[in-house]
Amino acid sequence: MQEHNITKILVAEDEIRTIVQRLGAEITVYYQGIDKQLMVIGLLRGSFIFMADLVRQIEVPLVVDFMTLSSYGDGTVSSGDIKVVMDLDSSIEGRDVLLVEDIVDTGRTFSKVIRMLRNRNPRSLKTCTFLNKPETRQVDIQIDFCGVDIPNEFAVGYGLDYAQMYRNLPYVGVLNPD
Ligand code: IMP
Ligand code: MG
Repeated sequence: MQEHNITKILVAEDEIRTIVQRLGAEITVYYQGIDKQLMVIGLLRGSFIFMADLVRQIEVPLVVDFMTLSSYGDGTVSSGDIKVVMDLDSSIEGRDVLLVEDIVDTGRTFSKVIRMLRNRNPRSLKTCTFLNKPETRQVDIQIDFCGVDIPNEFAVGYGLDYAQMYRNLPYVGVLNPD
């Protein structure tokens, strides 16, 4: 059982639901009256479950697209070296873009993607993350819609992985370090 390797629950299922509902409401209010569909862009693979829940709580017309970046490999420490593995399908020029991430840790990934997307001249670019680890931030970035702050521990579940596993846990937990 995967659960045997989880030492602690950081965000329980009912808390996740509350957080996602709040974010959806904030985003809906912010983009109310938008003239073209909102483009919600998720970073794969970590954000896929959060994205699925989040877009169902946003009540403005929207489209979704995804981008895959190279990640940590199988480690638990950010290498700071990031590459685009799969780019967006569509142009974001002149569009209102909401970038969605599972977790912001050092901030390097978000900062790099934000810079890359800004160069493509969207009309606006806002950011949303489900989890935020403020203690380990190395790059100052703007998070417009933030789910919940967590301590500096390695989180898995609700889309977040360790060596590609644990993404299917319905809550966010801390992995036993052994
Ligand atoms: P950053 O560039 O250091 O902000 O790292 C962001 C990326 O690292 C996220 O998209 C995650 O894929 C991964 N990551 C950071 N912290 C964790 C964690 O606690 N659990 C799982 N993945 C993490
Ligand atoms: Mg990620």
